[in-house]
Amino acid sequence: THSARILVASNRGPVSYTRDEDGSLRHKRGGGGLVSGLSAIGPGADAVWVCAAMSDGDRAAVAATGGALDPADTGGQRVRMLDIAPEVFRDAYNGIANSVLWFVHHLLYQTPLEPAFDRGFREQWASYERYNAAFAEALAEEAAEGAVVLVQDYHLTLAPSLLRRLRPDLRIGHFSHTPWAPPDYFRLLPDDVAADVLRGVLGADRAGFLTRRWAEAFAACCEQVLGARVARDGDELTVTHDGRTTRIGVHGLGADADFLRERAHRPDVDERLAELRRQVGPDRRTVVRVDRTELSKNIVRGLLAYRELLATRPQWRGRVVHVAFAYPSRHDLAVYREYTAAVRKLADEINAEYATDDWQPLILHVKDDFARSLAAYRLADVALVNPIRDGMNLVAKEVPVVSENGCALVLSREAGAHAELAEDAITVNPYDVQATAEALHEALSMADDERAERSKRLAAAATALPPHRWFLDQLAALGG
Ligand code: G6P
Repeated sequence: THSARILVASNRGPVSYTRDEDGSLRHKRGGGGLVSGLSAIGPGADAVWVCAAMSDGDRAAVAATGGALDPADTGGQRVRMLDIAPEVFRDAYNGIANSVLWFVHHLLYQTPLEPAFDRGFREQWASYERYNAAFAEALAEEAAEGAVVLVQDYHLTLAPSLLRRLRPDLRIGHFSHTPWAPPDYFRLLPDDVAADVLRGVLGADRAGFLTRRWAEAFAACCEQVLGARVARDGDELTVTHDGRTTRIGVHGLGADADFLRERAHRPDVDERLAELRRQVGPDRRTVVRVDRTELSKNIVRGLLAYRELLATRPQWRGRVVHVAFAYPSRHDLAVYREYTAAVRKLADEINAEYATDDWQPLILHVKDDFARSLAAYRLADVALVNPIRDGMNLVAKEVPVVSENGCALVLSREAGAHAELAEDAITVNPYDVQATAEALHEALSMADDERAERSKRLAAAATALPPHRWFLDQLAALGG
């Protein structure tokens, strides 16, 4: 202990465990932007990644190792997994992080009914505090004098200030992978909770965001909720509160072009591509989407827009196929299970309404398969990325990099990626189903050479800040 010079903390770690039927533990590398960006931490004894045990499999791995995972499972990385009591974890992760903070930052509440912060909420909030304290204590134990600590995301908003109290010598960063709510919406939270979340993040020396828009929203919340002082000097933004100043930084995580291009041409992807091509049929265009089945991804309105396209632009019937992958996510929460059911039902309806003997208008897959996602990226003529709100959205950045013929991108103006890709994307208001249908028509109608050129420019913008640089930039900004 007290040996790490670089520390990363996130709820989900780079590896997770499941128990096989014979009782042995099987490990799986995690995916997603956060994990791939942070993997730049690399192996080595002076860096450690602290994460939470999220399942019984994870807890068994912690029990077997005392929490310092076997480097054989982690690609050599030092990973310390925390076994937080299952009820505390559940309340902090499902209750507060995913059902309250995620909802606030993605504007997901149906406000006439929800939220209603009651005694149950208070109990969950106490768990969230304990969960954050467990991270702060583990980080304080692992960190060498003057080490740099990078705390990630909405699960861990209190950890920076708790850690600072334990270890004032550390240089602490916090990074939000989500949007940040505007003040009027952030104030849905109980006043003390809203203030605690902001003060927690301000415990960091530096708070990072994916776009300027989320950084400004955070600063505005600090101003209005805490009465903090916000100062702007060119691109520099600082928030001063209680005698301390926190710098606000913007780092727009990009796609990992080298990794994607190599991975997308392995045999398992080739196989799935052949299979998809067979299903789509010859001489048809494809509209591709790949998401977690996540409320903020707006999959239902995306399907409605596709149905609207087929209804109002009949020339596309028989000539286009919508390839939609909606992978399971957060199924401990009833609203996510209900949303998944709604996606399936609507997809069935569209197929029932329009399918012919030799044309299936919509191919929906709900089982996670990374190789198949890459195959769909290669096949894409049009990518549909229409979230209600999204911190960045890496799919919007990945498809242009991988697509073989160049793809047109229909992109929600509420995705963080829009700030970087607007020029060559077709922008939509995610709530406007009819306008989204028209955008799909425009994208499908785009001339081949224009589509290819735009796609090339999209790919260049999308890869401007690859994950390892995103990570190193933050370390550098903290003087690490
Ligand atoms: C978002 C969050 C990440 C999270 C990911 C998957 O991208 O910003 O922190 O890991 O969703 O969600 P999950 O709840 O499955 O970790």
